[in-house]
Amino acid sequence: MGLKQIDYGSEEYIKMVALRNQILRKPLGLEYSDDELAQEKKETLIAAFEEDEILGCCVLSNIGNGRYRLRQMAVKNEVQGKGIGASIMSFAETIAKDKGFKFMVLHARETAVGFYEKFGYKVVGDVFIEVNLPHYLMEKELT
Ligand SMILES: CC(C)(COP(=O)(O)OP(=O)(O)OC[C@H]1O[C@@H](n2cnc3c(N)ncnc32)[C@H](O)[C@@H]1OP(=O)(O)O)[C@@H](O)C(=O)NCCC(=O)NCCS
Repeated sequence: MGLKQIDYGSEEYIKMVALRNQILRKPLGLEYSDDELAQEKKETLIAAFEEDEILGCCVLSNIGNGRYRLRQMAVKNEVQGKGIGASIMSFAETIAKDKGFKFMVLHARETAVGFYEKFGYKVVGDVFIEVNLPHYLMEKELT
C-alpha cells in the first residue's frame, strides 16, 4: 500500500469521491453537492492506494491560525481494522507538520471518537449534530 497526495479532478480524485460516497454519505442517504466538491480545489487531498485500487483517504482543510481540519476520513469497508486508518492519520500529520501547521482539529462521529483518541486527539466541548449524526470537536497540538 502507498500513501500519497492526489490532485483535485484527477482519476485518483474521482476514485476518492466514490469511496467517500460509499463509506460516508450513501449509508446516510446523502450525497455531495457540486459546490461542496468545488471547495476541495484548494485543499490537501490524501489517499492510500494498492496499485489502482483506493483503500482509504482524508482531506486537510486550512482553517487559519496554523490549524488544519482533518475531514472525510474513510477506509474501504472490506479492509477496515487493518491499520490503514492509522497509516493515513500518521501521513496526514506529517504533511501538516512539514507545512508548518501547529494544530489539527476534526469533527469526529461519536462512533469514531475512540479511533482518534488512539492518536492523542482530545474531545473539546459538547456533542453536536452534523450530517444527522452526533459528532464531537476534537483537537491535537502537533509537536
Ligand atoms: C474510522 C476508520 C477511518 C478507522 O480506520 P481503520 O483502518 O479501520 O482503523 P485502523 O485499523 O487503522 O485502527 C487503528 C486503531 O484504532 C482502533 N479503531 C479503529 N476504528 C475504531 C473505532 N471506530 N472506535 C475505536 N477504535 C477504533 C483500532 O482497533 C486500532 O487500535 P489498535 O492500534 O489498538 O489495534 C474506519 O473504520 C472507517 O472508515 N469507518 C467508517 C467511516 C468513519 O466513521 N469515518 C470517520 C468519520 S469522523
